[in-house]
Amino acid sequence: SKTLKLAVIPGDGIGTEVVAEGLKVLDVAAGRHGLAFDRVEYDLGARRYNATGETLPESVLAELRGVDGILLGAVGDPSVPPGVLERGLLLKLRFELDHYLNLRPVKLFPGVATPLAGKGPEDIDFVVCREGTEGPYAGAGGWLRQGTPQEIATEESVNTAFGVERIVRDAFERATKRANKVTLVHKTNVLVHAGGLWQRTFDRVAAEYPAVTTDYCHVDAASMFFLTQPERFDVVVTDNLFGDILTDIGAAIAGGIGLAASGNVNPARTSPSMFEPVHGSAPDIAGQGKADPTATVLSVAMLLDHLGEDKAAAEVEAAVSADLAARGSAVRSTSQIGDALAARVAG
Ligand code: NAD
Ligand code: IPM
Ligand code: MN
Repeated sequence: SKTLKLAVIPGDGIGTEVVAEGLKVLDVAAGRHGLAFDRVEYDLGARRYNATGETLPESVLAELRGVDGILLGAVGDPSVPPGVLERGLLLKLRFELDHYLNLRPVKLFPGVATPLAGKGPEDIDFVVCREGTEGPYAGAGGWLRQGTPQEIATEESVNTAFGVERIVRDAFERATKRANKVTLVHKTNVLVHAGGLWQRTFDRVAAEYPAVTTDYCHVDAASMFFLTQPERFDVVVTDNLFGDILTDIGAAIAGGIGLAASGNVNPARTSPSMFEPVHGSAPDIAGQGKADPTATVLSVAMLLDHLGEDKAAAEVEAAVSADLAARGSAVRSTSQIGDALAARVAG
């Protein structure tokens, strides 16, 4: 049997609730494949910040660098000013661990209701390769004359040749294992500097993949096509902010934010990758057992897959698929869904 080190960051709000269910399912799947997870839970998020002022202590970051994988719930809480935890914890982890691929599948499972009339599972099955370390998230910018009527606030988008090329390459590689199509989404008609770099890089890499069909959409049109022609997409590659917004749309068309999984991946494996649902801490439903843990369970499947445990990953995904197909209108609690998924994995 094999032992892997897993860091668990439940975080805030429903993060703690959904992570508990994700771990339930992980334990069952691991047990069936002779895998053991040596788990260390980290108390990071609003409670820690409010008690100590810390978001991500250096000592914790150093420990995290040494694990095989990280499972995260969600961060952000109404008791903490916006940005403190999002930037100081979540983005800090993505940047420090060089999670340049934010991989977000958009997949409609059979039996799941989509708001898109006339569309089914065969129409909604693509992945978004969202750049994870640059763009408008980089933190460049600032204020002039802050708080005055003459205030000027800037938020610069940082795009490096190195950073753009590696995510674009990942998208093309990924397409060769899917339906051989990559769509670049940007706003090259307005954001000419960053857009120019993305388009030129995309075209240069595309020339190395003659079997892959390419497409380009401005992000406004892409938002529309997600709703009107989702079948148009196989692999979407885009910048950090466009990818953030598009993947909430992606979640909505594929059955809702409670089902959307993601991986903050370091494909070069120079540091551990981190898996988390696309959704946030949902303060509006936190503590009520109402959160759907399915997105976290699917993120656990992505974690297993990343760790080379593809059989275990497939079993977890199959359990989710079967549960989704059987879901009626009965309302189940967070732990009831987790129990049902764990039972299905157990077989
Ligand atoms: P959110 O995703 O937390 O919630 C949006 C809506 O979706 C809410 O109505 C919520 O109840 C619902 N929802 C979310 N997850 C659900 C689930 N699993 N089951 C059922 N319903 C679910 O987004 P928000 O309200 O914009 O943000 C709340 C906080 O979360 C903010 O502090 C934000 O910064 C943070 N956030 C964190 C992450 C993350 O940790 N990756 C992601 C998004 C938002
Ligand atoms: C997400 C979230 C984060 C993002 C926030 C909380 C920093 O919205 O994971 O999608 O914008 O990436
Ligand atoms: Mn988001």
